[in-house]
Amino acid sequence: MPVDVLVGLQWGDEGKGKIVDVLAPTYDAVARFQGGPNAGHTLTFDGMKHVLRQVPSGIFHPHILNVVGNGVVLDPVVFREELQKLTDRGVDWSKNLYISKKAQLILPSHRALDRINEEARGNTKIGSTLKGIGPTYSDKIGRVGLRVGNILLPDFQERYKEAVAQHVSIAAPYNKKLEIEEFEEEFFSAIEFLRTLQLTDTEYLLNDLLSQGKRILAEGAQGSLLDIDFGTYPYVTSSSTISAGACTGLGISPRHIDKVYGITKAYCTRVGSGPFPTELEDEVGEELRKAGREFGAVTGRPRRCGWIDLPALRYAIMLNGVTELHLMKADVLDGFAEIQACTHYRTATGESTTRLPDPGELQTVTPEYQAIPGWHTDLTQVTEAAQFPQELSDYLNFLEKELQVPIRIVSVGPDRVSTILR
Ligand code: IMP
Repeated sequence: MPVDVLVGLQWGDEGKGKIVDVLAPTYDAVARFQGGPNAGHTLTFDGMKHVLRQVPSGIFHPHILNVVGNGVVLDPVVFREELQKLTDRGVDWSKNLYISKKAQLILPSHRALDRINEEARGNTKIGSTLKGIGPTYSDKIGRVGLRVGNILLPDFQERYKEAVAQHVSIAAPYNKKLEIEEFEEEFFSAIEFLRTLQLTDTEYLLNDLLSQGKRILAEGAQGSLLDIDFGTYPYVTSSSTISAGACTGLGISPRHIDKVYGITKAYCTRVGSGPFPTELEDEVGEELRKAGREFGAVTGRPRRCGWIDLPALRYAIMLNGVTELHLMKADVLDGFAEIQACTHYRTATGESTTRLPDPGELQTVTPEYQAIPGWHTDLTQVTEAAQFPQELSDYLNFLEKELQVPIRIVSVGPDRVSTILR
């Protein structure tokens, strides 16, 4: 079966971009199936760091087709900026980038509504990236969204005006003006640019590839605990971030899916609000943030940091059907004398559970930890698994036993080359 899916198992920022980049050469196409410019997929190679927001992470390989699927919400302004940056760095994307005509368009008014919604939530703010993600997906489900294909129609301007009029009426009860005029010029010039790209029915493109025996890697964004159904609702993003989202977000049947790569950090982070049982609000958390350079790739916000959470990981592994794990940023733990892994939770009523309770209850659980000896080794110097210190091997074996899934990749640094296969 020729489609493999790559997903984040935590709250995003696991390092998915790096792994897509590493795995891409063994595929014929890389396809993004959900999310939008709220993502920031970081790839580092040849001494350069690249952050991709909506462009699939296979774009640096000219022989690989890169597809922005129908499940994505696309901001044309951000997209143009991303592509311009790639051009400036000598990357030719003109022949191997395709965009679904069914992807939804993020309008300036969606971004404005995102801000208004967030302000209206008072002290229950989601901590959204404010890129217009929620309002755009709301319009999609409400059947009033504009799709990329609409920009090819003669009445696009009218459709745009209708959509904005509706957004104005949504904002009115909040006594807010949308204030989008200053962004409309760049929006329409980005639409002009978008018209020049390869816009197509990517479900046909991908299924044609499959009938030719080609291999596709489906690239997820955000993480399983931000999934609209199974994440820590309402502190989630507005799309299906789990592997099942690859089918609806690309138009690929589940019968084509083989491997599911689950990406997790060796510890845990979260940006934005919501429950995070293993969060460390002390100097240990600060040390993780510093060692892991845990600041958002999109917003620059400091990420909340904590120990690895095995009940949450088990849940994500179950939902996604993960067949292999990739453990990221193991080197960040190099300096710790001892690390902790949360094996189960103690609920407010004193029960012990290995299952993830409802988000409200998750706020109240106490994590119970197993201590793991640190390895005091500079992992960034390691080039193969045989050089792993015993303590790291023990940690990996412990995780595999707890999670019942093999760890096939251990990442020991941001660069493409710092990727150890097991
Ligand atoms: P939104 O998707 O921008 O509406 O944000 C909803 C929640 O998901 C917020 O807590 C964000 O911080 C979080 N989020 C969205 N995208 C990402 C991502 O790519 N990485 C990590 N967190 C994200």
